[in-house]
Amino acid sequence: MLDWDKPIADFNDAANNAALDGSHDIQNIEPTKELGGLNNIEMGASRICVDDKRIINCRADLNQLVPFKYDWAWQKYLDACANHWMPQEINMTADIALWKATNGLSKDERTIIKRNLGFFSTADSLVANNLVLAVYKHITNPECRQYLLRQAFEEALHTHAYQYCIESLGLDEGEIFNMYREVPAVARKAEWALPFTQALADPDFHTGTIETDKELLKELIAFYVIFEGIFFYVGFVQILSMGRRNKMIGVAEQFQYILRDESMHMNFGIDIINQIKLENPHLWDESLIEEIQTMICDAVTLESNYAHDTMPNGVLGMNASMFAEYLHFIANRRCAQIGLEALYPGASNPFPWMSEMLDLKKEKNFFETRVTEYQTGGALSWN
Ligand SMILES: [Fe+2]
Ligand SMILES: [Fe+2]
Repeated sequence: MLDWDKPIADFNDAANNAALDGSHDIQNIEPTKELGGLNNIEMGASRICVDDKRIINCRADLNQLVPFKYDWAWQKYLDACANHWMPQEINMTADIALWKATNGLSKDERTIIKRNLGFFSTADSLVANNLVLAVYKHITNPECRQYLLRQAFEEALHTHAYQYCIESLGLDEGEIFNMYREVPAVARKAEWALPFTQALADPDFHTGTIETDKELLKELIAFYVIFEGIFFYVGFVQILSMGRRNKMIGVAEQFQYILRDESMHMNFGIDIINQIKLENPHLWDESLIEEIQTMICDAVTLESNYAHDTMPNGVLGMNASMFAEYLHFIANRRCAQIGLEALYPGASNPFPWMSEMLDLKKEKNFFETRVTEYQTGGALSWN
C-alpha cells in the first residue's frame, strides 16, 4: 500500500532505482489487455502503488491520476494549459491587405505561404488522429494520458489556426487542403508517417512483446522526433522568417504560438521515449538503433525535398542548401535527445535566430504583440 506521507521525489527515486537494478522484472509483465482504463471495477483490490506505474504495459488502474510517478508529464500538462491561446485572438488585418495588394508579395513568397498552409493544415489533423486512434491506448499511464489529451486539443487548435488563415486570406480551400494528395513534396511526408500509425491503430496490435514494444518506440520516434521534430521545421523557419521581415505578421504570429506548442509536444515525446528506454533497456539494441538512424536519414531527405519544393528559388535571404545544413543540425540535435550519436558531425545552424524563437525571453518583443506575455493560469513564467 502507498505511504501517502512519503514525498513524491522518494517515490520517483525508488521507481527509478527499481527499473535500473531490475528489482521489477519488466520483461515478464504480461501483454496488456487493450481495455486500459475501461476494465471492470474490482471491489477491495489493493490500492495503487507508485512503483506499479509504467509508461507501457502497466496493469495498474488507469483511472487514478495520483499518486504521480512522472512529475515531468504532469508539469508539461500544467505548462501547456498556462500557454492556452485561440487563433481568432490574432489580428489578421495587415496580412489580408498585404495578400490582396497587387505588388504586396512576390510569387515565391506566395508559394511559401500556400504550400505551408497546405502541408500543416492536414499534417496537424494526422498528428491528432495518430494520438487519439493509435498512441493513446498503448500509453498506460494516467499523467501521460492527461498530457496527451491536452496535446490532442492543441492539435485541433492548430488545424483551426490554419483554417483561420486560409479563410482570412480568402484562399481556395480545395487547393490548400488537397495539397497532401496533389503536391508530391507534401504527400511524401504524410505517406512516410502513415505506416507507423497504421501499425499501432490495428486492433490486433498489442504491446507486451519485444517486437511490438519496439514497434511502439519506432512509432513514437516517427511522430514526436521526426514528424513534429523535423518535418515541421522548414515551414516554421520560412513563415517566421517572413514575420521577421514584417510580412504576413498575423500568419507568423499564429505559427509562433504553434511552434511553442510543438516544441513542448516534441519534448514530451522525447521524455516518454527515454522513460520507456529506462524501463525496458532490452528494447534498445543495435538493430533498433540502426532502424531509427535510417528513419532519421530518410526524413532529412524528404524534408530537404520539401524545402526545395516550397522555395525553388532563393528568397528572404534563404535558399535550399541552407535548409539542407539546417536539417543536418536539427537531426543531430534530435539524435542527441534520444541518446544517439550525431548522424551529420559538424553541421551548423544557419538560422541561429530560430533558437531564440524557442527561447522566447530573448526576443520578447519580436512581433511587438503580447505573444510572449500571453498566458493563462499564471503557472508558468518565461521571463
Ligand atoms: Fe500541431
Ligand atoms: Fe504537435
